[in-house]
Amino acid sequence: MAGKGFTVKKDWDNPKVYAMPAEARVPAEMRLGPVVVAPATVLAPMAGVTDTVFRRFIRHASLFTTSAPDLDAPVTNAQSGCGLLMTEFTSADGLSRMRETKRQRYLTFYDDEHPIGAQLFGANPETLADAARIVQETGFDLVDLNLGCPAKRVVGSNGGSGLLRDLPRIEEIFRAVRKSVTIPFTVKFRLGWNDNDIVCLDLARMAEAEGLNGVALHARTREQGYSGQARWEWIARVKQSVGIPVIGNGDIRTPEDAVAMVAETGCDAVMIGRAAPANPWIFRQIAQYTATGSYERPTVDDRYRMIRAYFQMLLDEAEASKDLPKAARLGETSGKMKQFATWFTHGVAGGAKLRAAIYHARTGPEVLAQVDAFFNAQLASGVEPEAAPEDKAAAEFPEDMQECG
Ligand SMILES: Cc1cc2nc3c(=O)[nH]c(=O)nc-3n(C[C@H](O)[C@H](O)[C@H](O)COP(=O)(O)O)c2cc1C
Repeated sequence: MAGKGFTVKKDWDNPKVYAMPAEARVPAEMRLGPVVVAPATVLAPMAGVTDTVFRRFIRHASLFTTSAPDLDAPVTNAQSGCGLLMTEFTSADGLSRMRETKRQRYLTFYDDEHPIGAQLFGANPETLADAARIVQETGFDLVDLNLGCPAKRVVGSNGGSGLLRDLPRIEEIFRAVRKSVTIPFTVKFRLGWNDNDIVCLDLARMAEAEGLNGVALHARTREQGYSGQARWEWIARVKQSVGIPVIGNGDIRTPEDAVAMVAETGCDAVMIGRAAPANPWIFRQIAQYTATGSYERPTVDDRYRMIRAYFQMLLDEAEASKDLPKAARLGETSGKMKQFATWFTHGVAGGAKLRAAIYHARTGPEVLAQVDAFFNAQLASGVEPEAAPEDKAAAEFPEDMQECG
């Protein structure tokens, strides 16, 4: 990933001194068919993470017109630093078999999430075409096919990255889905199964030939999992191989990384996954950085408000949704609170201690109490704490995030 005279440091709390080309910036917009993605930034699909609450949280947190965004205010796409939201991946088989009420649970989204894409995985062309129709009828702006997931249960049924070894099948799927919907259709894939079988260039060309509206590349092989660094040079090669928009993905942790990816690869948009729960300001920071050349960093107070706001949104959604028994909803909510608190405090001073305390919490209120105690102690001290070495080390992506895609 080195090259072109600048280096990319992958640690968000480091001083940012990069020799970035003056013209380098994340594009103001990208078009996927008729869908305008402005700015050209995309929240990556993440199973277990990018549900409707998280997506709306990110959209609101991405407001960059004030330094203290009002999480209750309506946010239009044009105001948010995040140009496109994506759902978690959904099984096409499951979707086409489910009853209407259960489908709604998987495909719920709110008006302020537009533009939003739904991601599907599966291996059967007819089932995927069917599921894509359901996605269109539900009102999504685009449908995306997952060809990247390395999880065994998905690959085992030939879905996700399993399909990377079967290009003829992918072609059939592209055709069937393309015929079944009029909304834009995109695909997200990895480089290939392994280094001996890199297929991303052929796949991108095939996507273009079959009328897809864009491609997203997570620049690692399936065998690589999440190890090593994403190989952005392949994003550049895909970009040179097709005329449809190319979305670059892999290892963006800071605004500098986002701009560097565009500068190095020429990609039309950047997609951000793991950095979003760890640093929900990332989209706002990219927008600010693009506009002004610098960006604000969160204070302890900002962090505290942000985590409280997200928890409140989770609790409100659990209260509002009727699709599960109450105990199950509360269980799910406290699980999400724990997960988020864990990710959100990676790289934060004292974060390791808080994570250990949260690990033993059993309910949402218990998680909340630990979080309150942690931030109140930090605020009472009146100084912005410096992250300890063990917390800085944790600014690497946490291992429990490395699940899919
Ligand atoms: C917890 C988790 C769940 C994921 N789930 C999906 C998924 O459902 N579909 C998908 O295409 N990729 C999935 N991915 C992969 C991300 O979309 C993204 O490609 C990957 O994390 C690399 O981007 P990043 O370096 O910005 O995180 C997942 C990643 C994580 C960490």
